[in-house]
Amino acid sequence: MSPPKIELREVTRANVAAVVRLQTKPEQSRFVATNANSLAEAYVQPDRAWPRAICADGDPVGFLMLDLVGPDHPEAPDGRASYFLWRLMVDAIHQGRGYGRAAMGSVFEHVRGLPDGVALKTSYVPGDGCPEPFYRKLGFEPTGVVEDGEVELRLAL
Ligand SMILES: CC(C)(COP(=O)(O)OP(=O)(O)OC[C@H]1O[C@@H](n2cnc3c(N)ncnc32)[C@H](O)[C@@H]1OP(=O)(O)O)[C@@H](O)C(=O)NCCC(=O)NCCS
Repeated sequence: MSPPKIELREVTRANVAAVVRLQTKPEQSRFVATNANSLAEAYVQPDRAWPRAICADGDPVGFLMLDLVGPDHPEAPDGRASYFLWRLMVDAIHQGRGYGRAAMGSVFEHVRGLPDGVALKTSYVPGDGCPEPFYRKLGFEPTGVVEDGEVELRLAL
């Protein structure tokens, strides 16, 4: 089956209500913040947050947010880029159709185009139903770092 077509679109006045309405399955809520919460965090960190609606046929089916700290950013660790998948969710009714993987493909392409865009990190809360298998299938590997109970993963791009 060919991968579904998705687009990563800016969150705008036109689609913000639909993005905020997206929800995971109730038992997944401990793995990711609400989209309203993520958008509030993005609002106060516009220099690094990159929030995007995952759209299929023009409509939001999910949401993701990157933390993009380029090599010239004042908070770049040792003057090196740090690119991190901060949030990712696909709405409960749209899960299992390949949207998450397709969205990650677009993320990889975006990060590769950034200065020093050679790796992407993320982290997850371990537990039943956690997204570890999803990330491992994409090639992410544990870095060995566990912070505040979150397991860090890295993918070389
Ligand atoms: C993780 C998530 C974004 C995946 O989105 P999705 O659109 O359902 O994933 P896809 O359909 O693209 O799945 C790709 C592959 O990963 C697997 N997969 C997806 N989520 C999985 C999970 N939670 N556990 C195990 N495998 C999973 C799929 O079975 C599929 O495998 P296959 O290719 O062998 O069939 C979605 O399940 C979600 O929103 N989960 C709740 C929030 C969350 O955990 N976010 C991550 C925060 S770190």
